[in-house]
Amino acid sequence: MQLTTILSLFVAAASATPCPGSPRKFGIMALRSASPIHFASAGASQNGIALNLSDARADADCVDGSKPKSATFYIEDERLYLYGKKGGVVQQFVVDRSGMGQGVVRYSTKTESDPTGHLEVKGWAVDENDNLSFNGTGLIGCPAQDGSWNIWLGTVAKPAGQEGCLGFSARTVDVKKPVQCTYSNYA
Ligand SMILES: *[C@@H]1O[C@H](CO)[C@@H](O)[C@H](O)[C@H]1NC(C)=O
Ligand SMILES: *[C@@H]1O[C@H](CO)[C@@H](O)[C@H](O)[C@H]1NC(C)=O
Ligand SMILES: *[C@@H]1O[C@H](CO)[C@@H](O)[C@H](O)[C@H]1NC(C)=O
Repeated sequence: MQLTTILSLFVAAASATPCPGSPRKFGIMALRSASPIHFASAGASQNGIALNLSDARADADCVDGSKPKSATFYIEDERLYLYGKKGGVVQQFVVDRSGMGQGVVRYSTKTESDPTGHLEVKGWAVDENDNLSFNGTGLIGCPAQDGSWNIWLGTVAKPAGQEGCLGFSARTVDVKKPVQCTYSNYA
């Protein structure tokens, strides 16, 4: 085999393999049998994540022009991010487990330094069952007017006094062909 052929095979193999440091891209599917949210997937809009995102709230700006109702996530150094555009803004999740925050989960543009006070960014993990949690606390969904279910950390049963919230297993599922999107930011 000629050297040039070997080299081109090598280049082809290298470009087909994701770089070793590239974190897994995943979607979030809710598992809560015998409930309306069983198998619903999580989308991102207006700084929050929700199951069964409504058409109106599916407002991401994606490189392929799609308006996905399911968001693509990744974890790096225990921090949860939305899979964004190369060279674009980095959207990172922040939680507040304090009595004030009641387990609120929000994303916004990543800043130079970590937020302070009750806001936390580090603690996200996917366990051996592929469930996502924040330092051991799972997710809950609270029904909204438009049919979507806003996602909170399950630190309290009724965050902000909301009724009808349901805990669920946040099962992470591989996204084979992730699409880079910037999700709407009103913060
Ligand atoms: C995470 O959870 C462990 C065990 O429940 C606890 O000891 C630890 O303080 C927690 N860490 C944070 C940052 O909340
Ligand atoms: C999902 O949202 C649609 C409206 O966008 C609504 O009709 C439907 O009932 C919702 N499903 C659940 C499980 O809440
Ligand atoms: C995580 O996954 C397992 C296995 O599928 C499931 O039994 C468990 O209840 C899940 N949820 C949580 C919150 O751990």
